[in-house]
Amino acid sequence: MFNLILFGPPGSGKGTQSEKLIERYGLKHLSTGDLLRSEIARHTALGQEAKNVMDKGQLVPDEVVIGMISSALDQNPQAMGFLFDGFPRTSAQAEALDKLLDLKKSSISVMLALEVSEEELVKRLLKRGETSGRSDDTNEQVIRARIIEYHNKTAAVADYYRQFDKVKMVKGEGSVNEIFQGLCQEIDSRLPR
Ligand code: AP5
Ligand code: MG
Repeated sequence: MFNLILFGPPGSGKGTQSEKLIERYGLKHLSTGDLLRSEIARHTALGQEAKNVMDKGQLVPDEVVIGMISSALDQNPQAMGFLFDGFPRTSAQAEALDKLLDLKKSSISVMLALEVSEEELVKRLLKRGETSGRSDDTNEQVIRARIIEYHNKTAAVADYYRQFDKVKMVKGEGSVNEIFQGLCQEIDSRLPR
């Protein structure tokens, strides 16, 4: 199995690049943000609770997202590998993911981390907010809160994988295709032959 974490701050292009990567490499895309938004759209109790937190730009509790990832892994026993997008976002989530994969005799192959300046992130998210209907994109204060949450809790996840020498920084600014080529280069050099 080839398991990839696509890492980066809010608006760094994880979702955009994930769509292209799963098509090229046949990985199963697991985005905790998408899973949470689908709970919100279906008006579940979990969705309602998550929405209150997401609208403030804060992280939903670890046990909620770990539970969602655990079921998604169980539901996809045939997957050739997983692309994790927006997960893990705390050190506790990273440790939980390692344990879940270990139970399946698997592990993270690499974390590719998209580097984008803060001003570019805010610009992209405000622009998307004009049309996306995502309530956490419409106001600059919530966007800034998401970026602060990233620095306070999520950036440390890269340090967690760095101790296993699994992190590669990739340029996240430029055209979508240029960035995609950069990611593919890193993946191709690590794919089992
Ligand atoms: P989540 O859905 O994961 O959002 P995010 O990490 O804040 O990031 P985005 O999805 O907004 O950005 P992205 O990196 O995917 O970029 P995209 O490709 O869309 O999380 C939302 C919330 O859910 C969190 O705040 C939290 O509350 C909760 N949550 C989710 N996972 C959680 C977890 N594990 N633990 C706890 N809570 C969790 O691109 C952004 C925009 O830029 C788009 O409009 C795109 O078209 C544009 N764009 C992309 N590439 C380029 C480019 N090269 N040049 C110009 N524009 C570009
Ligand atoms: Mg996304």
